[in-house]
Amino acid sequence: MCGIVGYLGKRAAYPVLVKGLKRLEYRGYDSAGVALLTESGDLKVYKTKGKVADLENYVSDKDVSGCVGIAHTRWATHGEPNSTNAHPHISYSGNLAIIHNGIIENYAVLKKQLQEKGIEFKSNTDTEVIVHLIEYIRTKKNLDLLSSVQLALRTVIGAYAIAILDKNDPDQIIAARKSSPLVVGIGEDEFFLGSDASPIIEYTDKMVYLDDKDIAVIRRNEELEVVDFKNTKIDHDVQKVDLNLAQIEKGGFPHFMLKEIFEQPDCLLDCMRGRINVEGNNITLSAIIDNRKHLINPRRIIIVACGTSWHAGLIGKQLIEDFCQIPVEVEYASEFRYSNPVINNQDVIIAISQSGETADTLAAIELAKKKGAFIYGICNAIGSSIPRATHTGSYIHVGPEIGVASTKAFTGQVTVLTMLALALGKERGTISNDRYTKIISELSLIPEKMKELLKQGEEIKDISRIFTYAHNFLYLGRGYNYPVALEGALKLKEISYIHAEGYPAAEMKHGPIALIDEEMPVVVVATKNVLYEKVISNIQEIKARQARVIAIVSEGDDTVRKLADSVIELPQTEECLEPLLASIPLQMLAYYIAVAKGKDVDQPRNLAKSVTVE
Ligand code: AGP
Ligand code: GLU
Repeated sequence: MCGIVGYLGKRAAYPVLVKGLKRLEYRGYDSAGVALLTESGDLKVYKTKGKVADLENYVSDKDVSGCVGIAHTRWATHGEPNSTNAHPHISYSGNLAIIHNGIIENYAVLKKQLQEKGIEFKSNTDTEVIVHLIEYIRTKKNLDLLSSVQLALRTVIGAYAIAILDKNDPDQIIAARKSSPLVVGIGEDEFFLGSDASPIIEYTDKMVYLDDKDIAVIRRNEELEVVDFKNTKIDHDVQKVDLNLAQIEKGGFPHFMLKEIFEQPDCLLDCMRGRINVEGNNITLSAIIDNRKHLINPRRIIIVACGTSWHAGLIGKQLIEDFCQIPVEVEYASEFRYSNPVINNQDVIIAISQSGETADTLAAIELAKKKGAFIYGICNAIGSSIPRATHTGSYIHVGPEIGVASTKAFTGQVTVLTMLALALGKERGTISNDRYTKIISELSLIPEKMKELLKQGEEIKDISRIFTYAHNFLYLGRGYNYPVALEGALKLKEISYIHAEGYPAAEMKHGPIALIDEEMPVVVVATKNVLYEKVISNIQEIKARQARVIAIVSEGDDTVRKLADSVIELPQTEECLEPLLASIPLQMLAYYIAVAKGKDVDQPRNLAKSVTVE
C-alpha cells in the first residue's frame, strides 16, 4: 500500500508530483521520493525517509526542473524504511528509474540470478530486482524499453503497479499493473499517473483504470496506448470520474472503516502471499526458519498485547496449544509490564501490535527481554518501534489501517498466528499431516469466503437499524469464537458508545443473565461446531427472558434460525478458522449501528490510533 504519482506534459512536473503524493499520504508512508528528467537532460532522483514534507525540505535546494517525472510514498514490505530503500530505484547503468507498489514474491531468486551476473544491488527491497532485470534484458537482447518491460514482467511473480522513466527517452513513461491499483489521467497534451484518482482529479476527470497485466505506454503528443505482455493492443475505456477528493481517498466508501472491512479478502491474500503454498502443502515463515533453536521447543509462550491485538492473542493461544502443544499465556501488556513474571531464556514472548508503537506493549517487551526471553513481534506498521525492539517477527502486511477501530489488522493478526501455529506444529510433529493439509487448504479459501460474507452487508445494515435504540449489548461465543465475541463487543463500544460486554456463552448463567431483559440485545456466535448444542441452550435461556437474539450461524442452519430474531450465515470452514469469518459481520454490525446513530466512526471520541502513552 503505497502511493504512486506520475506526470508527462507541459507543466513543471515536480509541483504536480509533490501535491499528488500529499493526496496519497492517507494510504500510509514511511518514505518518499521523486525521479525527474530535468531540463539539462539528467535523470535526478531525490528520496528520503519520512513524510512528503521531509522530501520537500530535502529537495529545496536541488534541481527540480523538467516536465516528466514519477514519485512514490512507500509503505515498506522488504527492507527497513530508510532513504536507500525508498523509491525510485535506479538500474545499474543509471538510465532507468522505477517506482513500485506491491510485493515481488520471487525477488530472492531473481536477485540471486542477477547478482551472479555481476549486478550490484543498493537496497534491500524486492523492487530493485525489477529495474535491474529490465535493464539486463534490454542490454543483452538489444530491445526497446517496452519489449524489455514485457519480457521482464513475464518472469516476475507477485503484485505490482510500476512506472518507469528512461533517461534517454524523455518523452515516455511506461507503467504496468497486476493486483495493485493504477490509474492514468488524460489531459490536454498531458498525462498523469496515480494509485487512485486523487492526485489526478484536480487536472482532469478523464481516467483510464488499468486492468491486471495491462501495460500503459505514455508518449508525448501521442494517444495513450495500452498493450499486454505479448504486445497485443488492449481496448481501454476512458471514464469520466465525478467523485470528490474525500470520496476517492476512501475508495468510494463513506468511511475508512468500511473500506478496510471490505478490503479484508485482499489483505489476507497479501498476508499469506509467499508464505502459504497450497500445492506444496507448506507454510514458510522466515522468522521460524531463522530462529529454530528459540522457537521450536520453548518452555512456554506468553502473548502480550492490548485491545484488539490482545483478542487476536486469545485466538493465537488456542491455535498454538491446539497445533503445537506448547503452553501459552495471554497477558494484557499494561498489566504484564508492572508484574514480576517468572520468565527465563526458555520462554518466548509474542508481542502483537498493529501500530508497532503501543507504549504498554513496548514496555512489556523490554521487561521480558531483560529477563532473557526471546521476543517475536507480529506487527503491521513496518519499521515501527516494536519490530525494532523484537528479536524476530512477522509482519501482517495488510496495508495502513486508518480507521481507529481495528478491523483488517485483527484478521491479519489471526492469519499470521494461524500460519505460525501451523508451521511450528509441523516442525514439532504435534499436528497430523492430514489436519495440517486440510487447514492450509481451508485457510487459502478464506479470502473467497470472506467475499461471499461481505455480500450480506445490506442485510446487516437492515438488522443494525432495529438495534440502535439499545443502551447495552451482550456478545457470546465459545471456544475459538469466544475472543470473537470480545472483539465484537469492543468494536461496538468504540464507535457507537453503546455499552457492550463479551462473554464465553456458558459464563452467562454465572452472572450476566441477571441483566437480560427485552431491552438487551444479545449477539451469539452459534456456528456448528463441538459446542453447538450447548450454545443453542444458551439461546433458549436468552429467549425465555425476552431478549432479542442476533445469531451468527453456519450456512444452512435451520435450528437457530427458528429461535433467533436475526440470523447472519457464515460459509463453512474449519472450526479453528471461524474467527476469520465470524468477526466480519460483527465489524459490520458495529459499523452500521454507529453510522445510524450519527457517530464519527473513523475517529471515535477519546481514542487514538497509536497509543504511545501509558
Ligand atoms: C482497536 O479497535 C483499538 N483501537 C485498540 O484496542 C487497539 O487494538 C489497541 O490500542 C492496541 O493497538 P496496537 O495493536 O496498535 O498495539
Ligand atoms: N515492496 C516494495 C518495498 O518494500 C514496495 C512497497 C510499497 O508498496 O510501498 O519497497
